[in-house]
Amino acid sequence: MTFISATKQAFQRLPIVQRLATAAQGDRENRVIAAGPAVIPDEPILSDIPSEWPSPSLSDPKLLYLDLLKKSLTFMTYAPNFLDLASANGIRLVCPDGPELHARVEGHDFPFVADTMVGLKRLENLQFCVESVLAQRVPGDLIECGVWRGGASIFLRGLLKAFGVTDRRIWVADSFQGLPAPNPQIYPADEKLNWQPLEYLAVSLEQVQLNFQRYGLLDKQVRFLKGWFCDTLPTVSGRQWALIRLDGDLYQSTMEGLTNLYPSLSPRGYIVIDDYYGIPACRQAVDDYRKAQGISEELVRIDWTGVFWQRRPPD
Ligand SMILES: C[S@@+](CC[C@H](N)C(=O)[O-])C[C@H]1O[C@@H](n2cnc3c(N)ncnc32)[C@H](O)[C@@H]1O
Repeated sequence: MTFISATKQAFQRLPIVQRLATAAQGDRENRVIAAGPAVIPDEPILSDIPSEWPSPSLSDPKLLYLDLLKKSLTFMTYAPNFLDLASANGIRLVCPDGPELHARVEGHDFPFVADTMVGLKRLENLQFCVESVLAQRVPGDLIECGVWRGGASIFLRGLLKAFGVTDRRIWVADSFQGLPAPNPQIYPADEKLNWQPLEYLAVSLEQVQLNFQRYGLLDKQVRFLKGWFCDTLPTVSGRQWALIRLDGDLYQSTMEGLTNLYPSLSPRGYIVIDDYYGIPACRQAVDDYRKAQGISEELVRIDWTGVFWQRRPPD
């Protein structure tokens, strides 16, 4: 691609995420994504893969494994072939707000086949948090509330595996039947968020377990909490957490995660909020909780929607 040859040296100096996003922009000029009738690319499929597709110059096999795991969970390794195949069959795979590769980096789409909606940047944030709690010996398990197909939780299990951690568990909390109906009497912010009818968001426990198994990551260190957060999270509220990841979209779901879990987040542990900027109701729940509890740790932005903070140790 002309883009690559013209800017090769500058491109190689960019961090991985930026290289992907930049490559996706270059890709925009060369790729046709079918929005209706099939468009069959006139060049071989593989020519669409940027010749500078990021491959980490990592000598550590752990990091190479994690890099591949991230790309696999986000479906980034397969996207060009698959999308061409799909477009040749008249199927449209991504929302219209960006090229598919860029959307996967940012987690800005509703993927048909990826194991997570969370993009590469938010998986990299999880890696940062886990590496940090391991390095700082922050005690506790890791939990994700709102897992959909399980991809982000699978990545958490992969991180523990890669770093040889056998004394921490991954807790995987979901209804496994989609979001609850909004309850505007108690949570007015959720009034217009009726996503219950969306079958797309309802992924069964069996399917999520199968997804863990496909990566060889289903074992006794993974615990599933099936049911509505209001019923399941109180049963684990006394446990100690090193990382809490909240991805339940609604005010109610976010608030239930915060009230049940945050009090037992270890000092120097991390809390990640997936939808802070993307869903105003989620943001309001976080702001309300932080205000009520006097939490003043700085919110750190991950990408267009996600934020996280590290709990400050007591003085
Ligand atoms: C946006 S998806 C999560 C995406 C996921 N973290 C990923 O990696 O792709 C939201 C999930 O939260 C779950 N959920 C939302 N509110 C819930 C609640 N109150 N109780 C149980 N599950 C809930 C839904 O079933 C759905 O699987």
